[in-house]
Amino acid sequence: MSASDLSLKYDRAAPAWGDKMRLLGYYDAYLGFLASQTFRAPDGNRVLDVGCGTGAFADAWAAIHGPKQDITLLDPSEEMLNRAETLLQRRGVVASRDAALLESHRPSSPYDCLLAAHVIEHVTEPESALSTMRELTERDGRLWLVVSKPHWCNAIIWLQWRHRAYRRERVAGFLEASGWELEAEYAFPSGPPSRTSRGYLARAI
Ligand SMILES: C[S@@+](CC[C@H](N)C(=O)[O-])C[C@H]1O[C@@H](n2cnc3c(N)ncnc32)[C@H](O)[C@@H]1O
Repeated sequence: MSASDLSLKYDRAAPAWGDKMRLLGYYDAYLGFLASQTFRAPDGNRVLDVGCGTGAFADAWAAIHGPKQDITLLDPSEEMLNRAETLLQRRGVVASRDAALLESHRPSSPYDCLLAAHVIEHVTEPESALSTMRELTERDGRLWLVVSKPHWCNAIIWLQWRHRAYRRERVAGFLEASGWELEAEYAFPSGPPSRTSRGYLARAI
């Protein structure tokens, strides 16, 4: 599927996306993943949510670290971005936005933390996407990554989205090859996220 076809598809999915993510437990799953580490982000921390969708991951981030985070929302779908921006406003966060693909995002300075949930599954070269993410990040910055894993649930989701799914060893290999040190893995404890996805925390080296 071309990037523009995918973006149109996500535009159409946007009105129902946020409710679906909550109902299926992904918001709580992201919250649990972020809270599983002792990591604390200071006020003013520069954060990028790559492929933010309706903003569930960034919203969970602000719930944990407070509204004074300097958050940028990145997604080629304007419809997704509109909803993500509104969601964060409700929490008192004024986020920046960029309607673009990861490959063409050009920030004024590097980020301290990157969030990327269920997005590298859409690119043909995940290693290259992770290298791009590394270039966008300060040394010692962190990447909070959520990636689909092989499971029959993903076979059903694939029928609609044509996304990929990766075993943990492959994700670890992609991270190592692209300038990241894998610090921790997170198994979602319950519900659909436990079957479809896995969390990875990596440090920029
Ligand atoms: C499966 S959704 C996940 C959305 C959100 N992260 C979440 O967990 O709810 C994938 C999102 O990534 C975006 N996306 C796809 N390819 C992208 C790319 N190359 N760069 C940035 N965003 C991309 C899509 O527009 C879509 O909103």
